[in-house]
Formats: sequence, C-alpha cells, structure tokens
Amino acid sequence: MLLFEKTSTRTRCSFEVAGYDLGMGVTYLDPGSSQMGKKESIADTARVLGRMYDGIEYRGFSQELVEELAKYAGVPVWNGLTDQFHPTQMLADLLTIEEKFGTLKGLRFTYMGDARNNMGNSLMIACAKMGLHFTACAPEALFPARELVETAKGIAAESGGSVTLTEDVKAGTRDADVIYTDIWVSMGEPDAVWEERIRLLRPYQVNAGVMANAKESAIFMHCLPSFHDTRTTIGADIAKKFGIPEMEVTNEVFESARSVVFDEAENRMHTIKAVIYATLH
Ligand code: NVA
Ligand code: CP
Repeated sequence: MLLFEKTSTRTRCSFEVAGYDLGMGVTYLDPGSSQMGKKESIADTARVLGRMYDGIEYRGFSQELVEELAKYAGVPVWNGLTDQFHPTQMLADLLTIEEKFGTLKGLRFTYMGDARNNMGNSLMIACAKMGLHFTACAPEALFPARELVETAKGIAAESGGSVTLTEDVKAGTRDADVIYTDIWVSMGEPDAVWEERIRLLRPYQVNAGVMANAKESAIFMHCLPSFHDTRTTIGADIAKKFGIPEMEVTNEVFESARSVVFDEAENRMHTIKAVIYATLH
C-alpha cells in the first residue's frame, strides 16, 4: 500500500505533472507492517489512514478489500491491482494505443492468454468503454466470468465497440490491430497451477505466426513482467521442468519493432501522475 501526503517532511517523492511539482511524501506500508484485517478491521484502518494521508494506492489481491478501503478512507483510494482488475494499467495501455494509431474507436484488439485474470477482465471493460472491438482468445476454461462479459457487452453496445470470446487462434487474431498478452500465472497463484496453465495456454502463445495473421500495422503489447526468455529464475525453472524457454510470447515478437511494451511501461508513469493530479487537485 502506498500512502501519499501532499506536504510532508518524510521521504519526498517528486511528481511533476504539466510543470507542476506535486512534491508529495510517500510512505510504503507492506503487508507485514500492518494489522489490517488481522487485528484491525479494514474499515478502521481505512479511517485511521484517511486522517493521516491525502491518498492511498492499494495493490493486493482482494477487490472487496480495496472497495472497503475506498468506502471508509474519506480520501481517494487508487486500485493499483487486485486479483480481479488492474485499472491504472488500462490508462497506460489506452494512451499507448492512441499514440500509435491516433484513435481508439473501431480498432480490433485481441487479448490472448488467461482471459479471466485481472488483465483480461480490465482490458475487456476498458476496450468496451472506448469503442474498440475486443476479442478474448483463450481456452473456454479461462474465459472471463459470464456476468462480466454481459456487463462489457452492454457497455460496448453504447460505445460502438464489441466483445467476442473465441478459442480459435486463427479467427481470434485475424486482422487484429493490437495483440496483447500477459503472464500465464498471476501474482498470488500457487506454483502448483503452472503445469495445467501451460497445458491450456501453450496454443495461445503470441509468436510470429500470430503476428503474421494480424494486420501488417499491428502492434504487440504486454503489461509486464514477461516470460519471453530464460533470464528470470521462474523462466529458467519452467524451461527446465517443462522444456519451454518462452511462454506467453516468443522473444522474437517481444524484441521486434512491433512491440511497444516499453512505451506502455513509460506511460504507466505519466498516467498515474495524471490520476493523482486529477483526484487530489
Ligand atoms: N496478471 C498479472 C498482472 C501483472 C501486472 C498478475 O496479476 O501477476
Ligand atoms: N504492469 C504492472 O503492474 O507490473 P508490475 O507488477 O511489474 O508493477
């Protein structure tokens, strides 16, 4: 959890937005340093922190927890990622797409991989809101929850976008403007799920064939971290155990000129500063 103070004598962290230095103090509260939910209810902790700080960014697992923080804190609470959603990543991703294509409306966006994780859920909703044609290309077992799909379809009907779910890689990636993927096992999931997840998702790896099936102008996106080689301990371990040196995306695609992953990473910084500025000023 990150706790923000507009003026502070503690460690200062300079956020400059449009030439305006937010000059905020930032405190990091790690899970071991708080009694939240153990000896103190979320509602009580929220009210204590809300008296001391101007804003709270929560990154954790439970969506209910961040919603309860927001309900009681009395100050802006920003969702920095939960099991269900990753809204701040959406702003960086949409900005990156707009930078590349000059527009969002009408673009064909394909998400490949675990389509019911935080990224799959949030991308579906974000694309629906902004009028993109969203396709989740994944095994049926990893489709987003039916209720959320219905919500996204309702939003898309208003914006001129659409929501499609398919298991078919050829159909799902054909003529796409954006091919997006995420790691196959998310934060908080046990190591025991790797074997099953690899079995389910291997056919959905983003590789040269997938990119060739998309539009010639198509870009590749990834929120990071990524297992595109064996230069991580988990990547090396998986390569040894399952014989796959690349997982959700091949190194070739990740390093290609069509890959905009580091533009996305940079845009995380600009968009989160904008969110903080917009909600605190
Ligand atoms: N689905 C990933 C997203 C990381 C930004 C995870 O939860 O680990
Ligand atoms: N994209 C994103 O939220 O990644 P980290 O987990 O590396 O912060």
